[in-house]
Amino acid sequence: MVDQPLREIADERDVRIGAALAPGSLRSDPSYWKRAKDEFNAITPENALKMGPLRPSPKTYDFTDADAIVNFGAAHDKYVRGHTLVWHNQKPDWFEAWEHTDDQIRTFLRDHIHTVAGRYRAKIDAWDVVNEAIADDGSLRETVWSEALGEEYLDLAFEWASEATDADLYYNDYGADAINEKSDAIYDLLEGMLDRGIPVDGVGLQLHALGDHPDPESIGENIERFRELGLDVQITEMDVAFHRGEVPDDPLEVQADYYRDVFEACLDAGCETIVTWGVADASTWLRGFADFPERYTGDPLLFDERYDPKPAYDAVRAVLED
Ligand code: G3I
Repeated sequence: MVDQPLREIADERDVRIGAALAPGSLRSDPSYWKRAKDEFNAITPENALKMGPLRPSPKTYDFTDADAIVNFGAAHDKYVRGHTLVWHNQKPDWFEAWEHTDDQIRTFLRDHIHTVAGRYRAKIDAWDVVNEAIADDGSLRETVWSEALGEEYLDLAFEWASEATDADLYYNDYGADAINEKSDAIYDLLEGMLDRGIPVDGVGLQLHALGDHPDPESIGENIERFRELGLDVQITEMDVAFHRGEVPDDPLEVQADYYRDVFEACLDAGCETIVTWGVADASTWLRGFADFPERYTGDPLLFDERYDPKPAYDAVRAVLED
């Protein structure tokens, strides 16, 4: 008997298991396409909806790659997460060289959010409106957005997004998965936004467990406190690697155990959407990003190089079947 794909098990349980997708792989690699289609009921464009790829020049947009992924999601009945409208990284090269005024930044950002969120109004279910606005010490990260508009840029971004789309609107960050200084700061930030009536619906915990693997119990407690604020919580970018030099004897088993523990803790705490940051180890960002290939092992996902399921896949399946 052929095993039931993960997405069917997730559908039956009314939860979501997702993957970040890249347009090139989707177009050119049938194995990638098939796993993406069969095994996941949620997707996120890994890069295609960021400002850099979308904005080749100040007045033009290129939606080719973003459309390819979002339309794949629509065609195969997937929950689509949009990532991301406002971020300090992956801005266009021309933007970095632009000598702008604060007012120009305000107009530019409002138009960007209205255009991008508006285009996908009917197809994107949730947006990471603002990504990584809090620094690791819990302070507001200094970015072009905060410098031009002050802390208010977050309120404005969520308000502009709510004018253009009915999607759920998320704040998304890394290193805030468990209870710690950074997640405390995000809690305070979002509590303040809710008090001011800002339309924020949820918080995305990225969960890049690269060497340091946050305690699943603390992740569960973190999820619960955000839910008690009235926010939805999603795990938005999960992957699990090891520091090179600290790789256990049985890395695939340790990785599987961690996936299992996190999935159990998240589902128990009421987080019902968990997105992994890629389909298979063959194309994980960890193998090509900065000096990360020297720092971390490069096999963090549920499927291996050949798109075969790993012990982590079996562990996730067992949790979802339970
Ligand atoms: O698009 C260019 C392409 O034209 C060029 O040929 C190629 C040559 O290197 O580079 C391509 O851009 C790269 C892009 O990924 C697409 O592959 C960028 O250099 C590279 O920096 C970029 O990395 C992405 C990274 O965000 C940027 O910060 C990763 O793929 C992506 O996985 C990663 O995703 C982030 C989330 O958005 C936010 N949370 C953290 C997560 C991991 O860093």
